[in-house]
Amino acid sequence: MRDAFCLAYIAILSPISIHTAFAESGAEAWLRYSQVKEGATSLPNRVAVVGNSEIVRTAGSELVRALEGRPGKRVPTGELPNADAFVLGTWRDIHPLFPSLSRSRVPSGDGFWLKTVPQHGAKYWLIIGASNRGVLYGTFSLLARIAQQQHVLTLDDSPSPSAPIRWVSQWDNLDGTIERGYAGRSIFLDNGQVRGDLTRVSEYARLLASIGINGCAINNVNADPRVLSSEMLPQLVRIADTFRPWGVKLAISVDLSSPMAVGGLKTFDPLDPDVAAWWKKAGDGIYARIPDFGGFVVKADSEGRSGPSQYGRTAADAANVIARALRPHHGVLLYRAFVYNHHLDWRDLKADRARAAYDYFHPLDGNFDENVVIQIKYGPIDSQVREPASPLFGAMPNTSQAIELQVTQEYTGQQRHLCFLVPMWKEILDFDMHANGATPVKKIVSGEVWHRRLGGYNAVVNVGLDANWLGHPLAMANLYGYGRLAWNPNLSAEEIAAEWTRLTFGNNPQVVSTISKMLLSSWHIYESYTGPLGAGTLTDILGDHYGPGIESSEHNGWGQWHRADEHGIGMDRTIATGTGYIGQYSREVQKRYEWLANCPDELLLFMHHVPYTFVLHSGNTVIQHIYDSHYEGAEQAAELVTQWKSLHGQIDDERYSDVLTRLEYQAGHAIVWRDTVVNWFFKTSGIMDAKGRMGHP
Ligand code: GCU
Repeated sequence: MRDAFCLAYIAILSPISIHTAFAESGAEAWLRYSQVKEGATSLPNRVAVVGNSEIVRTAGSELVRALEGRPGKRVPTGELPNADAFVLGTWRDIHPLFPSLSRSRVPSGDGFWLKTVPQHGAKYWLIIGASNRGVLYGTFSLLARIAQQQHVLTLDDSPSPSAPIRWVSQWDNLDGTIERGYAGRSIFLDNGQVRGDLTRVSEYARLLASIGINGCAINNVNADPRVLSSEMLPQLVRIADTFRPWGVKLAISVDLSSPMAVGGLKTFDPLDPDVAAWWKKAGDGIYARIPDFGGFVVKADSEGRSGPSQYGRTAADAANVIARALRPHHGVLLYRAFVYNHHLDWRDLKADRARAAYDYFHPLDGNFDENVVIQIKYGPIDSQVREPASPLFGAMPNTSQAIELQVTQEYTGQQRHLCFLVPMWKEILDFDMHANGATPVKKIVSGEVWHRRLGGYNAVVNVGLDANWLGHPLAMANLYGYGRLAWNPNLSAEEIAAEWTRLTFGNNPQVVSTISKMLLSSWHIYESYTGPLGAGTLTDILGDHYGPGIESSEHNGWGQWHRADEHGIGMDRTIATGTGYIGQYSREVQKRYEWLANCPDELLLFMHHVPYTFVLHSGNTVIQHIYDSHYEGAEQAAELVTQWKSLHGQIDDERYSDVLTRLEYQAGHAIVWRDTVVNWFFKTSGIMDAKGRMGHP
């Protein structure tokens, strides 16, 4: 009974006031709304929800919750209120009520139109989406503007997201632990089952929706095949039901051996017809219960995972057989390009893990089905503090791509150190691959450069049961920033830092400028006292990826080598004398990296092996840079403490103390890093610090 629009579908939500004071545990993240309530005095207190969609109703309730408290009784009515009101709905439902509006202003997909219009003596704040999700995103956007004290009395703005795929991944295991998670156990899983209480899952979905995220893969890419067992499906249904009101699609990571491991087949050869039939049945079974299921993420032939190479098949064979099971249901398959041999011979100077993704996937370009998206880590190694953009982005014109980022700070301080990663992500996204004219990574993954229908973003987030989601209260700036960049990669790091700070800590100018400054300097500070000049993080790569472990990357097959010895340091990845990695880039980019004269200092040791006495563009020698940056980095880490202390009394005590404790720890650990690295390089090179600081902190 859906007569295009039916006025009876309008529900007026009249808010009831509940002035709850919540402890600032960080649980509310950037959706605290205390400033919304203050800033909303000149705004209407009626919310008219048009249409019958669950997502649009969620949007209406969110608006009421933000403005006043909890939604009161829903009053179904046939008419728009003849007083000022927010009016929410899809274009299809709203247009008949406002016939003079032009369709051309409504972006397709998940975009929205915020528009104020006078009509019948009242003023309406319209939140219109082409899709239900658009209405929800428009609502969150309007609330964020109000909270930041922006002008919202006259609106005519219609933004839309850069890419269709804006997902997050959790590396949660069925037993409730999280691989590379630093904020408690899984909010999804426990003891082999989906948790009984999914309250936190709903709250997480709300946070994700508020920054435009539309999909979440809930389990570890090192996937337990049991996630596809018949006992698991009804449990996954419960998560999908919890996500749905927030427009977040459920996705899962699957293991390629599942047809054998849970299906009882004798093979998982992707070209075997029984295997194809098994995947089809698995896909059909999921979609019968979860019609809006997002799809699968696959890690195969990597770090000991099963994969198509076991049958002499390619990644395209493997991806396509699974993708065909999803395609009739509009599901997508994110196949990870993180495929490499972790038993490389470290004595072989031509061996290079950084080459692996390109060497493996570039020849397969054009062989992947339409609903396969190749998910590429931002750099060719593994989420290090500094890497060049992966050359693979520029080398697959006939394949949809997604960039993989890491919100969980695996190699960047594990949420015990402050490290705001948005500036780094921006550098990667803005990096021009020169693949075909101007082709920055952001325009490749959005699908724009090669006219791909699919493409986008997936970040490993790994929130946990800790009240504040990620452990360090300031680490949430990374999750916020990730969502904002996936929506609009043209935003600057400065804009994102300021937005997040305002929403999280309020609009006090001193608070905003101090925290923004701390965030914006933090990546560089972390890099300074850990890994220099692109050599890698110099962390313990064999264990927990935390703290200094300079030798751990050498003399083993993992290929995260920096090749530091008594003479020099760096990986020779040149075309002329090295591994040839630089040859995987376009000519323009090759020129930048191949010649020492052009190679930027910050990536020098990623691209070249040089003596310690080599003079950088900065005028410093490599060894003196290592010493200087470590001393400066540790000093700057200590300054973060001072900067934070200047906010005493300006923000709530709970978060003030929590952050202070962490920053003090960080400043101490930065000294440990500094001394370990500086001493190691002195011992190895025999060259003194020109400033005589060694051993004198
Ligand atoms: C890193 C990480 C692993 C993870 C892997 C991946 O190497 O340390 O825990 O499984 O990345 O992305 O697959």
